[in-house]
Amino acid sequence: MPGAKKVLVKTFGCQMNVYDSERMAESLKAYGYSETDVAEDADLVILNTCHIREKAAEKVYSELGRLRQLKDERRREGRATQVAVAGCVAQAEGGEIIARAPVVDLVVGPQSYHRLPELLYRARSESRALVETSFPEEDKFNKLPRRTRTHSASAFLTVQEGCDKFCTFCVVPYTRGVEASRPVHAILDEARALVDAGVAEITLLGQNVNGYHGEDEAGSSTSLAMLIRRLAGIEGLERIRYTTSHPRDMGEDLIAAHASEKKLMPYLHLPVQSGSDHILAGMNRKHTAAYYLDLVTRIRKARPDIALSTDIIVGFPGETEDDFAATLAIVEQVGFAQAYSFKYSPRPGTPAAKIDAQVPEPVKLDRLYRLQRLLESQQTRFNAACVGRTFPVLFERSGRREGQLVGRSPYLQPVHAFAASELLGRIVSVEILGAGPNSLQGVIQAA
Ligand code: 5AD
Ligand code: SF4
Repeated sequence: MPGAKKVLVKTFGCQMNVYDSERMAESLKAYGYSETDVAEDADLVILNTCHIREKAAEKVYSELGRLRQLKDERRREGRATQVAVAGCVAQAEGGEIIARAPVVDLVVGPQSYHRLPELLYRARSESRALVETSFPEEDKFNKLPRRTRTHSASAFLTVQEGCDKFCTFCVVPYTRGVEASRPVHAILDEARALVDAGVAEITLLGQNVNGYHGEDEAGSSTSLAMLIRRLAGIEGLERIRYTTSHPRDMGEDLIAAHASEKKLMPYLHLPVQSGSDHILAGMNRKHTAAYYLDLVTRIRKARPDIALSTDIIVGFPGETEDDFAATLAIVEQVGFAQAYSFKYSPRPGTPAAKIDAQVPEPVKLDRLYRLQRLLESQQTRFNAACVGRTFPVLFERSGRREGQLVGRSPYLQPVHAFAASELLGRIVSVEILGAGPNSLQGVIQAA
């Protein structure tokens, strides 16, 4: 019976989890589940989890504690509740999750989402907890139902999953597996379905997205730049973005696409992680600070106004004050429009966690604070420089204030403006009047 049961999907972590959560909810629709965001109403709760840092992973267990109470309450009312843990904690910890939190009925890794309805049914009918964390042969994307709905004018589309880079701090190669690219035709099909559902902007997702090398219809290997060119041919698709890129895989054709492909937005998330060559080597990043700076110069030559974003880790094992100074220096030299920064978090099973020279917590905290002050000042400066300019803004949702819409500039900044709700999903010229550290405000320009 359609809509007879309710599912709550709670998403942690990265954009790929956001995408996966949507696909899981879609796949359950055919089995009678409609989505809810009220936990008390949910017959099924899926936690789509993140394992990248300890803090993210621990959130799952506090969430499961709350769910245990909820499940008990619902049981007293004669209602059954299934609890599933999906995502990277599921993949990394498997059966340990059930040992630690018996409230869980199903642990399912990212490669088995197409089996979710079947696994839930089995867990229910066999009245026991199931763990499915294998890396199956079949392609889950082929088995998942076609895209039908979207929440917004902007959507994610996974084109590549997994990573072979093995940065020594990172769990991704273990939780998402080795690098795999989806074939071109499958991506084009999905993109067309999204556009038919009203999507104007697609962000191509991959843990190492610019390492994309999917097969085209003729069986030839296709680069991300070639894929973007194919996608740009879809009428109604107005904007293309991609994330996350590795500096080593920033090919000349991709750099050139930023100059020639109008639909490709002038924004690039390019993690540098550190500015110290000694630390970069310890991280197995396969690039130096000089390589990164030269790459930035080449990218800016192709697209001078490009907004650069990055990820940085402070307190990697062995990081000295001089190493950290080199990180501040590279940030000064590049000038980022936006950035994410983290304290190093030792992750089980990764090589860096075994290094003796771990940096004390207070030192990490102090460095993070100093780095974030610099990054914030750069972001504020980038935003302030937009005042007085007019941007095409894709309106995606209503704002907090009555009559206000929120959209994104080409540089991915949130832009607030008073506008009729008919403009949702449309790209509109907005004159920027004000800038804060995290967003812009503007007025709609008459056509
Ligand atoms: N500790 C801290 N930050 C990490 N990241 C990945 N692994 C760790 C870790 N063990 C950061 C990196 C990566 C981003 C997604 O998360 O900067 O680019
Ligand atoms: Fe992790 Fe990214 Fe390094 Fe791959 S390239 S190991 S996902 S940090």
